[in-house]
Amino acid sequence: MKNKMNKTKLENCKILITGGAGFIGSHVVRLFVNKYPNYEIINLDKLTYAGNLENLKDIEDKPNYTLVKGDIVDGEFVQELFEEHKFDGVIHLAAESHVDRSISNPMEFIQTNIVGTVNLLNAAKAIWKDNFENKLFYHISSDEVYGSLGKEGLFTEETAYDPHSPYSASKASSDHLVRAYNDTFGLPSVISNCSNNYGQNQFPEKLIPLFINNIINNKP
Ligand SMILES: NC(=O)c1ccc[n+]([C@@H]2O[C@H](COP(=O)([O-])OP(=O)(O)OC[C@H]3O[C@@H](n4cnc5c(N)ncnc54)[C@H](O)[C@@H]3O)[C@@H](O)[C@H]2O)c1
Repeated sequence: MKNKMNKTKLENCKILITGGAGFIGSHVVRLFVNKYPNYEIINLDKLTYAGNLENLKDIEDKPNYTLVKGDIVDGEFVQELFEEHKFDGVIHLAAESHVDRSISNPMEFIQTNIVGTVNLLNAAKAIWKDNFENKLFYHISSDEVYGSLGKEGLFTEETAYDPHSPYSASKASSDHLVRAYNDTFGLPSVISNCSNNYGQNQFPEKLIPLFINNIINNKP
């Protein structure tokens, strides 16, 4: 995709990380805050059940870190935030991320994962206008957009999209919109479709922490 990032290290750039209080986002925020002291890192998070500020206790007082509590579904708020900070880059992780919850409440997923992503794209487009040099919208997606793998094989970036749950369909939709803004408006973007992550700070409803908690608590 069109992406005019200059390879030289950027000084004094402002990066918006969405969903930075969640599992993966908290690791990304910590990495950027510690690794790039000249960058200003703004963490935009609604602090849903999945967001936990304990995940960021060790960096909360760093001078290059700011937390903004807010909802990416609120387009006016997102626009104002971009106008205030004039971000150079966006790392977009905020999402409703649990497949089972998407089956009991799909609308939450449509709102956050689709409408929320478009609000961010619109705000970035409005603030960057046509000067996209050294700007980047990095969209974190999921391998679930490709459907089920079965027992063998692998997904590649050429695999056809085949989502089946409201979660994966909402992530697939957001990928298409990021791609469409890249093709139509030239908005520089990258999409990554990682498979399941596990590790520290993961909410205990997910498979591995759930199993570990059940074992510790003698549950089946
Ligand atoms: N965890 C995985 O294994 C995995 C795998 C592939 C892709 N992903 C993707 O990576 C990203 C992060 O996943 P995660 O597991 O860290 O998720 P998570 O559920 O732990 O965290 C999501 C964060 O987004 C915030 N959020 C939710 N709705 C919001 C809204 N409307 N406005 C602002 N903030 C909001 C939550 O408060 C939370 O802090 C997601 O986009 C997810 O689809 C995750």
